[in-house]
Amino acid sequence: MKKSFLLSAAVALVYSQIGTIQAATDKEVEVVHWWTSGGEATALKVLKDDMQKRGFGWKDSPIAGGGGDQARTVLRARVASGRPPEAMQMLGFNIQDYAEEGLLGNLDSIASKEGWDKVVPAPLSRFSKYNGHWVAAPVNIHRTNWIWANKEIFDKLKLTPPKTFDELVAVADKIRKAGYIPLAHGGQAWQEATIFDSAVLSAGGPKFYKQALIDLDPKALGSKTMEKAFAQMQKLRGMMDPNFSGRDWNVATSMVINGKAAMQIMGDWAKGEFLKAGKKPNVDFLCFQYPQTEGSFTFNSDQFAMFKVGDDQAAGQMQLASAIMDKGFQEKFNIAKGSIPARMDVSGDNFDACGKKSMADLKVALKNGSLLGSFAHGHAMPESVKSAVYDVVTKSFNNLQVTPAQSVQQLVKVVEDSK
Ligand code: BGC
Repeated sequence: MKKSFLLSAAVALVYSQIGTIQAATDKEVEVVHWWTSGGEATALKVLKDDMQKRGFGWKDSPIAGGGGDQARTVLRARVASGRPPEAMQMLGFNIQDYAEEGLLGNLDSIASKEGWDKVVPAPLSRFSKYNGHWVAAPVNIHRTNWIWANKEIFDKLKLTPPKTFDELVAVADKIRKAGYIPLAHGGQAWQEATIFDSAVLSAGGPKFYKQALIDLDPKALGSKTMEKAFAQMQKLRGMMDPNFSGRDWNVATSMVINGKAAMQIMGDWAKGEFLKAGKKPNVDFLCFQYPQTEGSFTFNSDQFAMFKVGDDQAAGQMQLASAIMDKGFQEKFNIAKGSIPARMDVSGDNFDACGKKSMADLKVALKNGSLLGSFAHGHAMPESVKSAVYDVVTKSFNNLQVTPAQSVQQLVKVVEDSK
C-alpha cells in the first residue's frame, strides 16, 4: 500500500516536472543572431541573463559570420518556409524590408508605455519604425570609422595617430620596416565595405558621403572624389599581409592584440575583443578616427525585430523588447560590446575613453548632420543596391588591375541598374 503510494507520488512528481519543463519551453523566445565572437558572446550573455530573470527561456540560434550576411540568408530561407523566429538581429534597411512585407509584429504598446520616442534619436528610430509603428527594439549604436591600434608598437616606434591619409601611409611604412604588419584585415566583402565607409568619408567629407552613399547622386558617385576613395582602398590593401583572404574579423583583431599587426580599421565591436582579452584603452590599445574623418560618425545600430507569431509567443517578444530598452541593460551590454547605448539618456560615466569619445562625438554629429548611416552595415542604401555596390568595392580591392576610374564607372552603373 505504502509502496504503491510512493510510486504514484513519484509518477506525479515526474509528471509535474514535465509540466514545469513544458511551461518553461512555452515561455521560450527564439533569437537568431550573429554574435559568436568572444566579445560579442560576453555582451549577449547580459541579455540572456536578463530574460531569464524575467522568467523566459532563451532559445539561442547563432549563425556565425561577421556582419550578418550568413544570418540574413538563413532568415530568408526560414521565412520562405514559414518558420520565422520570434526575434532576429537586424540592421537598417533590412528591418524596413521585412516590415514592408507585413511580417513584423507591432511593439507600439510597450514602446508608448516605456516612452521610447523620447529617448531613441530619430536617425535610429527611422529604422525601428515602419509607417509610424515600432517594429524593432534598438540595442546600440556602433561606429565604423575607427582605427584600433597596438599601443606598444606605436610607443616603440614613436608613432602618433595619423591625422591625414598621407600620414597614415607614412606610419604604415615605418611599421612595415620595423617588421610588423601595418594593417590586419580579413578578406570578406563586408570587411572591405567597412573600410570603404571610412575611405569615402575621408576622401570627401560628410556632405559628400551623404550625397554619394545615401542620396545615391550619380554626380557624386561618378566624381573624382570617389576615385580618391577607391585609390585609398587600393593603398590600404598594400599595408596588409598576403594571407588576409577569408580571415574572420576577430582573427584580424587578435593579430593587433598579440602585436603581430599594428592597426585594424573596424567598427567598435573590435573593442569588445580587446576588452575580452583583458586589454585596456590607452594602456594596451588606442582608438582613433580614420584620418580626415574626425568628428564624423558612420553608424550602424543592431536592432531586434519581432516577427508576427501567435499570441502565445507575443508575451515573450514584449519582454525581450522591454529588456533591450532597459536603461541598466543598455549600459551593461554596450560597455561589453564596444558600442554605445541606443537610448540618449544613459550616463557615459561608466564607459571607457573610447566609449566616452563616441558618446560625445555622437551628440555633436546629431546636431550638425554628420551622423551618417554606414553603407557597409545596411544603414545607407536599400539592401539590393548595397549588394551591387559591395561587388564593385570587393572587385576593386581584390584586383589592383581595376583602376579607381573604372571602379567609379562601374559604381554609377550598378547603382543606376539596381535602384
Ligand atoms: C553588427 C555588430 C557585429 C559585427 C561583427 C555588425 O554588422 O552590427 O554587432 O558585432 O557586425 O559581427
